[in-house]
Amino acid sequence: MSDLHPERRNFYGRIHGKTLRQSQKGYLAEDLDSLRPRGITWDENPDRTPLDPTALFGGKEVWLEVGFGGGEHMVAMAAANRDIGIIGCEPYVNGVAMLLGKIRAAEVTNVAVHPGDARDLMDVLPDASIAKAFLNYPDPWPKARHHRRRFVTPDHLIPLHRVMKPGAEFRVASDIPDYIRQTLEEGPKAGFTLVHEGPDAWDNWHSTRYEQKALREGRAPHYVTFRR
Ligand SMILES: C[S@@+](CC[C@H](N)C(=O)[O-])C[C@H]1O[C@@H](n2cnc3c(N)ncnc32)[C@H](O)[C@@H]1O
Repeated sequence: MSDLHPERRNFYGRIHGKTLRQSQKGYLAEDLDSLRPRGITWDENPDRTPLDPTALFGGKEVWLEVGFGGGEHMVAMAAANRDIGIIGCEPYVNGVAMLLGKIRAAEVTNVAVHPGDARDLMDVLPDASIAKAFLNYPDPWPKARHHRRRFVTPDHLIPLHRVMKPGAEFRVASDIPDYIRQTLEEGPKAGFTLVHEGPDAWDNWHSTRYEQKALREGRAPHYVTFRR
């Protein structure tokens, strides 16, 4: 499932979880192929030729969700904004299967799914092609020596900045104070302008599994908005 180029980059998160339900295996076998944009994997596009993301959605503007987990936020955004297209990236197969189930249930058609690392997608996105980006509850990597694995590092944020349109919004939600600290430090270094940060969610926010887990465990969500 993962298409990480072994000589180029490592992915430290989980790719497989508990055994998939029969229905989830069905979603992966039947639905993923038609939702998966071609030319993102290294096998399909070794020269990293840019793709045209708007062509995926008949010319609509394109949003990006990094690490959609179970897909609840991504599907809610797609359902509430049928005039845009949203591409989600997630290497965790169980998450992809959950998302596919939700796509069927919500009958949304303005979605595309890259079942892998967001860096591989960003490689092949043209400059200034993404109109909004979401990073919800990214992997916290709590140990100091693992902080460089966090998404909010130059390896990820510089390519993200390049692919976003000038003025486009980049949203980050996390319950980990040190992650927010690093986000506020690294975002501007990568060229993003801070618009807002605080404990109140965006008006059109849709909570996620990881946010619900944080709330159950007594941790406080924090929301950061940048502009490209
Ligand atoms: C803590 S989970 C949060 C999932 C979901 N956003 C939520 O709020 O419930 C973080 C997710 O980010 C994914 N992830 C980590 N690095 C990624 C990358 N480079 N590209 C895409 N997804 C990534 C992980 O596989 C994991 O599922």
